[in-house]
Amino acid sequence: MTMQTVGVLGCGLMGSGIAQTCAQAGYRTVVREVDEGALAAGLGRIDKFLEAGVKKGKLTSEVRDETRGRLTGTTRVEGLSACDLVIEAIVENLDAKREAFAAVETVVGDQTIFASNTSSLCVTEIAAATERPDRFAGLHFFNPVPIMKLVEVVRALPTSDATYQAVFTFAESLGKEPITAPDRPGFIVNRLLVPYLLDAIRAYERGIGTAEDIDKGMTLGCGHPMGPLTLLDFVGLDTTYYIAEIMFQEFKEPAYAPPPLLKRMMLAGRLGRKSGRGFYRY
Ligand code: CAA
Ligand code: NAD
Repeated sequence: MTMQTVGVLGCGLMGSGIAQTCAQAGYRTVVREVDEGALAAGLGRIDKFLEAGVKKGKLTSEVRDETRGRLTGTTRVEGLSACDLVIEAIVENLDAKREAFAAVETVVGDQTIFASNTSSLCVTEIAAATERPDRFAGLHFFNPVPIMKLVEVVRALPTSDATYQAVFTFAESLGKEPITAPDRPGFIVNRLLVPYLLDAIRAYERGIGTAEDIDKGMTLGCGHPMGPLTLLDFVGLDTTYYIAEIMFQEFKEPAYAPPPLLKRMMLAGRLGRKSGRGFYRY
């Protein structure tokens, strides 16, 4: 099937990046947020990223303007009625995602495909709550979306071959490199990445090193672009906590258990870059 109009649910860290990437690839894109304040903040993040891209010489001002011209924001679910594909990127919570898709289902056509950007939830469980489980797949992007090349395409148990092919081809059309991932918490990348990030928090909590030295160790010693504590601040400590809880519930393995410090930082509102303070101050 051909996609022309893409809907994105949520214009937070990931939703804004996904919406930008879709619009930049030529799709008419509608992004929905819960209120005008959150929408303005999300669209502002896109404008800033596009502007920085022009300044770095990565894109022309024409591309910036065309991208923005294809992108609209809305707070109303009806704004998504013309979408061929709706990609959900809201909080990592099963009930919230089910409710969001139920609302979208009342306004879109039968052929519209749904995709979730969940990091760790069971895609089959989200799909099963909709009236179109065969037209549902996981489409897991990486942060920052406009830069990171990978997309994990997740085939849930009820996902039809046609849907799977359509979303895989769609990911390629964004200029991404899709890989096929199983419907298991964390898919491929987070299954490996999350225990590492949680271990870095445990190391910090136990005084193995300062935040700076732990990060310096992994950047200069292993060639990682960001140290683990910087990456945690970048991903968001709330999102990381939800992901760890979900993975621990599924696997019951200590490697996925959220460390006590992560929970306390989340409860104290130290969410990383997005709140101005995490392991570092911004
Ligand atoms: N517009 C267009 N291009 C831009 C840009 C912009 N606004 N800003 C940067 N770029 C380009 C740069 O030009 C550069 O491209 P080239 O390599 O072709 O020169 C590239 O993006 C990297 O940018 P910089 O060199 O300026 O920035 P950096 O070196 O500080 O890298 C980073 C930034 C890409 C974020 C890097 O630090 C990185 O890769 N960090 C790790 C990110 C990561 O691990 N993400 C995954 C998180 S986990 C996840 O997402 C899954 C989950 O479920 C939680
Ligand atoms: P975020 O907190 O930055 O953004 C979530 C946004 O969704 C908020 O702006 C919120 O107002 C909005 N929202 C909540 N309910 C909504 C609804 N019903 N309709 C529309 N908007 C709604 O979170 P994020 O980091 O962007 O994460 C979003 C999803 O992407 C999660 O499932 C997360 O696991 C996944 N993910 C996150 C990362 C990351 O690095 N942060 C990477 C890959 C995947």
